[in-house]
Amino acid sequence: MTQKPKPLHSIKVDGPIPAHLARSVIEETLRSAILDGRLPCGTALRQQDLADLFGVSRMPVREALRQLEAQELLSVTAHKGAVVAPLIQGDATETYELRILLESEAMRQSVPLLTAADHARAAAYIDELEAQRDYTEIGRLNRLFHMALYSKAPNKRLLRLVEDGLNEEERFLRFNLEAMGLGKLSQDDHRAMLQAVQDRDTDRSIELLEQHLNRGVEVITRYLATPAAQSRQAAR
Ligand code: NI
Repeated sequence: MTQKPKPLHSIKVDGPIPAHLARSVIEETLRSAILDGRLPCGTALRQQDLADLFGVSRMPVREALRQLEAQELLSVTAHKGAVVAPLIQGDATETYELRILLESEAMRQSVPLLTAADHARAAAYIDELEAQRDYTEIGRLNRLFHMALYSKAPNKRLLRLVEDGLNEEERFLRFNLEAMGLGKLSQDDHRAMLQAVQDRDTDRSIELLEQHLNRGVEVITRYLATPAAQSRQAAR
């Protein structure tokens, strides 16, 4: 069986990869291909195919796949091996409930420690979001804006979980924003949140964050219930 799975053709590998970088190069390459949709959900990733593609042994491939599984970008099943995970794992409401818990805590820890430079960085992301029409970029900028607000949280494990959640949302938005027909996304939520953060009003910041994420879950739940969304997910 020498048949190459098609989605892997979209992945470019330039030159031989130094052994000590193999795992991180493979992980980063696959991660961006999953996030931008070149590797759609349900795609099976075989260790040997990837080892051939990257010109490495199976060991760094296995390690990279394990990392991506920990980030919930892959799910590993007994029969198919590593498969690109569905866009939203399980119930969207549960996903957002967890995000609210994690991000509120990250916000609580971070707000008192943020500097004027952090505030300026977050403001710059809002300006970019305002001007941006490309949904891929919108997803990325939204993640960067939120992470800028949480970035000073001392608990790094918490921040990693928060970032996993934002990655999941980014991937979902990239795939579905256009179909949701939201048009231009309002930056009012983000602006109000940043204002509260700049005022170092932690309670208000968290309250606005909860409202922001709850609005998100409403839009997504309504969208996922539509026939268009169901056939779109099934096609992947
Ligand atoms: Ni947002």
